[in-house]
This record gives sequence, structure tokens and C-alpha cells, in this order.
Amino acid sequence: MIECEALTKTYTVREKPSFFSRGVERKIAALREVSFSISAGEMVGLLGPNGAGKTTLLKILSTLLVPDSGRAAIEGVDVLRFPRMVRQKIGLVLPSERSLYWKLTAQENLQLFAGLYNLSSRKACERSEFLLKTVGLSEFAHVPVEKFSTGMRKQLMIARALLHEPRLLILDEPSSGLDVQGKREIWSLLKDLATQQGVTLLLATHDMEEAETVPERLLIIHQGKIRADGSPSEIKALSGNHGWLFIDLPGTYSENRVKLPKGLFLDSIQSVDGGSRLCIRISSSYDLPQLLRIFPDATRVERREVSLADAFLTITGERFEDTDTVEEEEI
Ligand SMILES: Nc1ncnc2c1ncn2[C@@H]1O[C@H](COP(=O)(O)OP(=O)(O)OP(=O)(O)O)[C@@H](O)[C@H]1O
Ligand SMILES: [Mg+2]
Repeated sequence: MIECEALTKTYTVREKPSFFSRGVERKIAALREVSFSISAGEMVGLLGPNGAGKTTLLKILSTLLVPDSGRAAIEGVDVLRFPRMVRQKIGLVLPSERSLYWKLTAQENLQLFAGLYNLSSRKACERSEFLLKTVGLSEFAHVPVEKFSTGMRKQLMIARALLHEPRLLILDEPSSGLDVQGKREIWSLLKDLATQQGVTLLLATHDMEEAETVPERLLIIHQGKIRADGSPSEIKALSGNHGWLFIDLPGTYSENRVKLPKGLFLDSIQSVDGGSRLCIRISSSYDLPQLLRIFPDATRVERREVSLADAFLTITGERFEDTDTVEEEEI
């Protein structure tokens, strides 16, 4: 469905001249030789922190941006040579809500965009009705979009992207700016589209929960490079850990006083409320009863599973730090 080969993109930014400098030119390597392929029916998440290159990659795949070098094709059609044909094959959902007409109703929006895709008026009506039902907005068909919540607008944007029946849906931060409930609704809609209608999904995200919930496969992107590729559990396993145990004990402990069963390693001992907290890394299966016999006076034992953020740190050597930015895109 998608094939990319050595996609590279560098932006050139000219800094404003000041009293001290003549405005230096700065190069930003947004993508560095990105290669991967995605088969029809896959649900793939592009996970990376702010500035990793996600939007740049999605824009190249959707023909909005030209790479410096490399090749990309959607269903065998080259994005640089046949952009119009590629656009027929993909539905694109960008973060900006400006891609809808706020004064028009949901149905009017869909019919307007259906016209741009050259759908006949009968087909436009049928398709709008079907998609409003699919995204759960049937009862709001005649409500102006300005009265919609952010979540409803996102749902309508997804419907809009599906008007021309694309087999591939590309989404940039599909749930950014939504509350927990709104996010869950979008995630379940995306999963339904993939599992019930066979739509291939490629979504960019920096939301760990989204990355764990929707995609079956993750591409970890960092500083313009794909650093790992696998299911969320395969990616987490790359951290080399099976999780952590935190054991709170009264009194002070020194590292040489702690003898742990096989499969457990002591990472650190912290002082907590006059006692000690042992932070133990789980490297393989271990014997919990044996562990509890070693620490009979434990006041609290907590297990923390490995997260995608832990794996990201192992893979890239950097913490996954980002903010939930809602970019305004130019349409
Ligand atoms: N139009 C542009 N001009 C100059 N630099 C740009 C431009 N667009 C993106 N960049 C830079 O390219 C790099 C990759 O940006 P990109 O928007 O693709 O990342 P992203 O992973 O989508 O980040 P975010 O999570 O913040 O949306 C960043 O360093 C960014 O500052
Ligand atoms: Mg982005």
C-alpha cells in the first residue's frame, strides 16, 4: 500500500538579520533516508516527539510536500510523478479544524467536498449519509459545524477524508486537543474503519496512549530517522526489561545489604518518608513469594509495566519529551 525509499527532506531557514548578524542560513534535517513499507489493511502508528519529522513524512506521502531525494509510492503510484492519482487513493486528516466550513452544516460540508471530488449529487447524498452514520454524527447532520465540539469536528473531518472511498487514511495527530472521552471515541472509530471497512491506517502521534491503543504496528521516528519498527509489545520488549518493582521498607538499606532472586536487578534505593524504596528492574521471570520472604517487613510492593516511553529511551538514548501542540495547517 505504501512504499518509501530513502526519503530525505531538509528545510532551510534564514534567521532574521539583526544588528549583530546578517541573518544566517540554517539547515534542518527533517527526514534522513526514511524507508519502510506498509501492506494493505495494516494499522500503523508513526510515533515520535515534537520535531521528529512525522508531519513532514505524512505531507510527502500525501503529495503536499516534495522530498529532496528518495521515492514514495502509494499502491505502486509514485507520489512525485502522479500526485493527482495518489490523492484519489488517500484520505488525509490534518490537525487543523479550519479545513471545515463552520457556517455550513455537517451534511453541507460533506456535499461541498464531495463536489470537489466530482461525485454526482446522488452519490454525494448517499455517501454523506453513510459517512455521517459511520462517524456517529447522523443526528447532527443539519447542525452548523460552528456548534460542534472539537471531537465532533474531528469526526466530521474523518468523514470528509473518506468521501472518495480511499483505501488509505493518513491522519496527523487525530486526537490532539481532545479530552479523554473524545480521544476514545476517535480511537474506536479508527479501529472500526480498519477492521470493518478494511481501510489502511497511517497515523502520526506523540500520544503514548493513542500509540498503544490504535496501531498494531509502530514506526518509531526520532530526529528524522525510523529507529524501530514493530508491534507495541515488540517495541516495549526492546527496552530489555519486563518492568519494575518498587518495594517500600522501613529503615535504611544499603545496596550491598540487598540480595535479590534470579531475574531481578537493583537499580537504585531512594529515601522515602523515613524509609527506603528499592527500585528493582525485572529482566526475566522471577519468584514473587521468594522475593516477599526476603522482605517480610515490606509496607508496599508496586509493579510498573514497561512503557513505550521506556523503550523510546532505550532505543534513542533520549527521553520522550513533547507537548500536545495543535498545529494550524495551511489548506
Ligand atoms: N516549513 C518548515 N520550515 C522550516 N523547518 C520546518 C518546517 N516544517 C518543519 N520544520 C522542522 O522540521 C523538523 C520536523 O518537523 P515536523 O513538523 O515534521 O515534526 P513533527 O514530528 O510533526 O513534530 P510535532 O509533533 O511537533 O508536530 C522540526 O525540526 C521542525 O522544526
Ligand atoms: Mg507534526
